[in-house]
Amino acid sequence: MKKVNKICCIGAGYVGGPTMSVIASQCPEITVTVVDINQARIDQWNDSDLDNLPVYEPGLKEIVAKTRGKNLFFSTEVDKAIDEAEIIFISVNTPTKTYGKGKGQAADLKFVELCARNIAKIAKTDKIVVEKSTLPVRTASAIKSILENTGNGVKFEILSNPEFLAEGTAVEDLLQADRVLIGGDETPSGQEAKDTLSSIYAHWLPKERILQTNVWSSELSKLVANAFLAQRVSSINAISALCERTDANVAEVSRAIGTDSRIGPKFLNASVGFGGSCFQKDILNLVYISRSFGLNEVADYWEQVIIMNDYQKRRFAENIISTLYNTVSGKKIVFLGWAFKKDTNDTRESAAINIADALLEEKAEIVVYDPKVSADRIYADLDYLETRSPEENRKLLTVVSNPMDAVQDAHAIAILTEWDEFKNYDWDIIFEKMLKPAFVFDGRRLLSKEDMEAKGFQYYKIGQS
Ligand code: NAI
Repeated sequence: MKKVNKICCIGAGYVGGPTMSVIASQCPEITVTVVDINQARIDQWNDSDLDNLPVYEPGLKEIVAKTRGKNLFFSTEVDKAIDEAEIIFISVNTPTKTYGKGKGQAADLKFVELCARNIAKIAKTDKIVVEKSTLPVRTASAIKSILENTGNGVKFEILSNPEFLAEGTAVEDLLQADRVLIGGDETPSGQEAKDTLSSIYAHWLPKERILQTNVWSSELSKLVANAFLAQRVSSINAISALCERTDANVAEVSRAIGTDSRIGPKFLNASVGFGGSCFQKDILNLVYISRSFGLNEVADYWEQVIIMNDYQKRRFAENIISTLYNTVSGKKIVFLGWAFKKDTNDTRESAAINIADALLEEKAEIVVYDPKVSADRIYADLDYLETRSPEENRKLLTVVSNPMDAVQDAHAIAILTEWDEFKNYDWDIIFEKMLKPAFVFDGRRLLSKEDMEAKGFQYYKIGQS
């Protein structure tokens, strides 16, 4: 097993940043350098004001404060970091392809391929290259073929080490990981590489939580884990629609089925639909791979998870419109929350984006408040859809930093992220400020129906009639 002195991670995003910060804090003898081509992002990681880090995660700034400048560095000097490191993590984005073959489903691997070509060009000593990004099964062989044809005579071992952290709990998930998965070749040098990487995680995790597999099982397991998790959300969301028609209460159904130890209680909260950068992208990828092997039934089965998620978002928006007497034109609707979940500033694939878009099509006036998401981000999310011009988006939607100003004369409030602070608002004052009848559409099941109705609200809670 090799002794590791220097690690480099390419990609300083939601995965690369927190993962490497935790490794640096747990392995003080290892120098960890996180590199990115995005200068602005690296500047934010190096900002002396730790509230300006590009990723918001509970506990992250404390770890960065302890390690940055000691054994944790953020830099745009990609080539230098590659040259010096014994282990190179690739943690760049792998979005869904927006062009060509596999458009709308397959993973776009151009960023990963660029990294591999760059490593091939720069490396002068043997390296372990670790796929940290979520990649389609069999990507390691593509990386291998790029690396092996460099002509530098350098030996590379390619490992798959997918990341299972969830945004909002990234630091906790890394420190208390259920398991770490390390896939690699079943050769003596492949085994040595797997053991070397295992030794890093063994600094803080018990041995039995570090699983070693072949490289294909590891790549596929990450896609399957996300598909199973998203499937649970879509399953309970499907039942939430049925609950609303039958006087059943989805919370009671969740509890009743979740106490069955074969099912378990986690990921059974009905909501406005899942978001985040991974679930949809990774399921689409699984669907694409299955179809490319002619496994149409397998592809259709997993695709249904996405279809149900789209339905849930559409259903929520349509319910707002029909409840507000079939027109929201010119009506002020306040969005509480824009992030795809609480405790993160990430908005990728957030349900709020599609719901806003649907309501803006009906000429609603939307006012958004989110404690961690900037106005620039919100407008960028909407503009990206290209449903209407950027000017129109700015005319119809405003972003505020004080929720209490937003609710003045509002027709309705939609709760779209489960931020804890929303539970603690003085809802009596909010009721006073709103137009009557005062509608609240709770897409996160955050508040009590009984309490809200007692205060006078017309309150709709997803999954409850
Ligand atoms: P991100 O978009 O936040 O960060 C990726 C970073 O890579 C960006 O800062 C980008 O500038 C940089 N980059 C792209 N090409 C580069 C290159 N050639 N050289 C240097 N830097 C480059 O993405 P995120 O969310 O960190 O995801 C990374 C991977 O991890 C994806 O494959 C994702 O599926 C996977 N993943 C994400 C999770 C999440 O919760 N966000 C959880 C588990 C896995």
